Amino acid sequence: MTASFDYGIAFSRNIGWVTEAEQAGLRVRRIAIAGLGGVGGSHLLTLTRLGIGQFNIADLDVFEPANFNRQAGASLRHIGRPKVEVLAEMALDINPELDLRTFPHGVSADNLDNFLEGVDLYVDGLDFFAVTIRRQVFAACAARGIPAITAAPLGMGAALLNFLPGKMSFEAYFRLEGEAEDEQLLRFLLGLSPAMLQMGYLVDPTRVDLANHRGPSTPMACELCAGMAATQALKILLGRGKTPAAPWGIHFDAYRNKLALTWRPGGNRHPLQRLGLYVARRRLGRQISQGTQCAIPASETPLTPMEQILDLARWAPSGDNTQPWRFEIPSERHLVVHGFDTREHVIYDLQGRASQLALGGLLETLEIAAQGRGWRCDIHRRKDLPETRPTFDVKFSDTLTEPHPLEAVIRTRVTNRRAFSQRPLSSRERSALEASVGAGYRVVWLEGSATLRRMARLLFANAEIRLTTPEAYTVHKSIIEWNSQFSQERIPDQAVGLDPVALRLMRWAMQSWKRVCFLNRYLGGTLLPRLQLDVWPALNCAAHFVIVAEQPLQAMDDYVTGGRAMQRFWLTATHLGLQFQPEMTPLIFASYIYNDVVFSQRSRSLAQARRLTSQLEALIGREACQQAVYMGRVGFGSVPMARSLRLPLSRLVLPTVQHEPS
Ligand SMILES: Cc1cc2nc3c(=O)[nH]c(=O)nc-3n(C[C@H](O)[C@H](O)[C@H](O)COP(=O)(O)O)c2cc1C
Repeated sequence: MTASFDYGIAFSRNIGWVTEAEQAGLRVRRIAIAGLGGVGGSHLLTLTRLGIGQFNIADLDVFEPANFNRQAGASLRHIGRPKVEVLAEMALDINPELDLRTFPHGVSADNLDNFLEGVDLYVDGLDFFAVTIRRQVFAACAARGIPAITAAPLGMGAALLNFLPGKMSFEAYFRLEGEAEDEQLLRFLLGLSPAMLQMGYLVDPTRVDLANHRGPSTPMACELCAGMAATQALKILLGRGKTPAAPWGIHFDAYRNKLALTWRPGGNRHPLQRLGLYVARRRLGRQISQGTQCAIPASETPLTPMEQILDLARWAPSGDNTQPWRFEIPSERHLVVHGFDTREHVIYDLQGRASQLALGGLLETLEIAAQGRGWRCDIHRRKDLPETRPTFDVKFSDTLTEPHPLEAVIRTRVTNRRAFSQRPLSSRERSALEASVGAGYRVVWLEGSATLRRMARLLFANAEIRLTTPEAYTVHKSIIEWNSQFSQERIPDQAVGLDPVALRLMRWAMQSWKRVCFLNRYLGGTLLPRLQLDVWPALNCAAHFVIVAEQPLQAMDDYVTGGRAMQRFWLTATHLGLQFQPEMTPLIFASYIYNDVVFSQRSRSLAQARRLTSQLEALIGREACQQAVYMGRVGFGSVPMARSLRLPLSRLVLPTVQHEPS
């Protein structure tokens, strides 16, 4: 049943903020909107609800899944349909009496005359990167005396500029003439938003990709743009209130709770703008020369089920992000995992145990990912190969089981080395974590303020060994990627857990062992990192935990199986919304003591490790200490902004070789 439409009733709730006469005025106005993407679609719907009676709308695009986060009209049933057609339907559904002229080929120099014919106001909805046509439309508006509004969604806010007849023009403000495209985009961005309120919370700058015309966006910003632009439209069309025109601009940022009214006489020629442009150019240059990495690169789309499984499994954790595995795919249902370890050069990989735990984590992740593709795994380690080359044959067969609930968090599981909240675990969370390790393991919890303080003292002592042992220095030096938020093969310095000042100091010191010694001896160099990396996080968490095997850990397979328990526990923690940090070095130093292995030429380090082992035994018991598989802390907190990434599949998958039968 179609309800009858009455303009007066449909827009009656506007009355009060506008008079009946003004509403009638809006009904006969024509607004042109070019571009119906992020902001354009919302402009059309908002202005339609305001009661504007006539529109010229232009867009040449169709809806696709990547539009879903922000674009009005983007939904499953509209995939592949022209935006102009869908938005016209949606607007007509609000006001069937609309006089709507559509331009399905978009706006171009050829149809500008038609597009602006009889138009009272132009509202810009063009893609941020469409600079050339935007300049043409604004120039055409200026030539015809049509007021024009542009509102840019920036972060979680909106920046708006009005270009009014007789006032500063778009071209005079932005000064784009004769500039290269990148420079035009920078000028457009900085001109739109001189206050740059959004920059403080751009958590992943690598997602701003000017070269490939891609940038992050939010639905809130688009809606704010529509609200701000429609308000200006109302004022311009009804001649109400003060309407700021360029070089005045308005930037409201809902995230920062801030409003900035900007004034840049001369537009981008203004000294502040020039300075801003200088800084932005340098940043962009650096970004291009460093070859930015996205947290989860979108480029490689895995095709086969096997590739999809490996693409997920590669996100398993490994000590210092070494990723001690390579893959070989002899057939569609057969995978070989070629493991290795780093015992030769990594002090934290005693007998390759840390690498074996990581391999266990990888196998567990493989199984979880395979289940989502309707496959089950049959895994066998090749027993004829040395322990330094743990190699596994994984055969896949069909299963009817549902996808594993932990699959959803494989990619988001992450190491968080910052302080968490002290909110304790609920009994539900604790039971879920205890159940996750499975038969053969138990979880020892270390919690409560007195125990947390003991843990902090223990980790403080442990950190001294880490930071003053020369054999550990070489490892730390090679695993940190400096000046990075993300790192494919190492740990980015920003994920280490130090504040920027301590990080600078550490970067300086880590250049040579001599510097480290100088800092340690004369400037109390270990104090700051120990407080930031060990004591503070140790005190700020829900609990520390130790996963303990019921039987003594003897052979490599025990560690691989232990690694599977570790990964189930870690993924479960992520699933529960908990943050997680491994704290493995006390266990590693203790195993050096148990195995009577001299791990350093520095005798003080050995004595410290002995003391540390006794302290740990006093905390969790000797048996738990000897049979401990994994140790760490969990708690509630914000997700880290910096993290380790993984090598792409193209580097992890080896060409298939003829291998000996096992
Ligand atoms: C066996 C093992 C031991 C680890 N030991 C520590 C540790 O002692 N301290 C720490 O901060 N991270 C530790 N990690 C975390 C790794 O550094 C981290 O998993 C790796 O850099 C990948 O980063 P992601 O977990 O954020 O994906 C360990 C991970 C594994 C698998």
